[in-house]
Amino acid sequence: MAISSDENLRERINSMTRKGLLRNIHELPFTGGVSVSEADAPEAEGATKYNLSCNDYLNLIHHPYLQECASNAMAMYGVGSGGSRLMGGATPLHGELEERLAVLTGFPSTLLVGSGYLANYGLLTALLGKSDYVFFDKLNHASLLDGILHSGCKWKSFPHKNYHVLEESLRRVASKYENIYIVTDSIFSMDGDRADLVALQRLSTMYGAKMIVDESHAMGICGAGAGVGVGGVGVGGADADAGAGGVGGGLCVEMGVRPYIVVGTLSKAYASYGGFISCSHLVREYLLNTMRTFIFSTSLPPSVVASSIGALEIVSSTSTITMGEELTMGEELMLRAKMFHGMLMDAGLRVEEESGTATDGTEPMLLAFSSQIVPIMVYDNDRAVALSRLLGESGVHVRAIRYPTVPLHGARLRFSITLGFDEGQLAEIAHSVVQAIAKSSGSTR
Ligand SMILES: Cc1ncc(COP(=O)(O)O)c(C=O)c1O
Repeated sequence: MAISSDENLRERINSMTRKGLLRNIHELPFTGGVSVSEADAPEAEGATKYNLSCNDYLNLIHHPYLQECASNAMAMYGVGSGGSRLMGGATPLHGELEERLAVLTGFPSTLLVGSGYLANYGLLTALLGKSDYVFFDKLNHASLLDGILHSGCKWKSFPHKNYHVLEESLRRVASKYENIYIVTDSIFSMDGDRADLVALQRLSTMYGAKMIVDESHAMGICGAGAGVGVGGVGVGGADADAGAGGVGGGLCVEMGVRPYIVVGTLSKAYASYGGFISCSHLVREYLLNTMRTFIFSTSLPPSVVASSIGALEIVSSTSTITMGEELTMGEELMLRAKMFHGMLMDAGLRVEEESGTATDGTEPMLLAFSSQIVPIMVYDNDRAVALSRLLGESGVHVRAIRYPTVPLHGARLRFSITLGFDEGQLAEIAHSVVQAIAKSSGSTR
């Protein structure tokens, strides 16, 4: 069906509405996880207090040092970069951030790109072609999928984290193609669980496949140092001048896994904006000359780059003492998220044994605890939207996630826990969740 006529557009919108899949924009009066006005102004009845759909995981959006970094850069360079990196939009700040990201992720070099989406899409469409074969996890982020599909490569997805199926496919295909890739998220954006990077590295080495890992939800959070260097080296990433990575460098750093390429975003834990690709010098040079989302797009504003540099400094130098142990910001975040997950379990929510095994009509359930992303599986679209609305009425903003972002019948509320929430607030939010679920079962059954 052609989609260009207004009539067809209306029909498509109507169809999405009928299926409970229509999306809209909900404006909030604040950024970050917690309303900044809460401390000093009485909240209006029903006003949003908490934003659980915010990826400011380390609560840095309002950090005074980052605001200072950004405003100093703005005073020096103005509000924009004025061009693409290759034309006139390269300041020393861009280069400095790249160097720091390379060290942080343990790669010889890094290329900054406009956003995580543009990094994934640009990388895969530049790198892959007809003679390449790509295996990817079914729950990978849309930007990876879009890049793979538009690259013209041959591809096959494997069921989420089912590395037996992946190995079977690798066994059949590996000898027939020169270039084989395995592409995965490290922390999956909608389930919040973690890829088994060590298992993937083993397969990558065994079958000569190059591994590309999207670390968007792990950057700034994982990579505490304990596991650095223990996992050995996978195919292609073993340049002599690469280090082991640093605090906040991602799950690969934490697991001592060295993929061919790591992609990440600066718009989540690092609280600003932009994407990056960590890779060998050779791959960087190739991308710089071929990647369309890099070449034909204006570079990041210097103020944004400066606040990212500041965020990297903060994450690498901040620790807290919790119960006698020194924790990184990411480790502290995991404790809070686990606390929230525990509160929901204590309130009676059960844990789904394996993601996606329950069916429509099941009571809302948690997934096993894995990260700062805590989904409550609702399954049914309308009920997920109703729950989101009910929570909104109690001051908790959390969006219903529905198909095609997640599989059909996989509608959920996805709670992003941030360091902005203290124990009392997490308890208040958990209480609102349980009340909303009770109310929604009364109203929808
Ligand atoms: C796994 C993953 N990769 C990439 C992106 C895109 O990053 P950005 O928001 O910087 O475009 C996201 C963002 O939601 C993500 O979750």
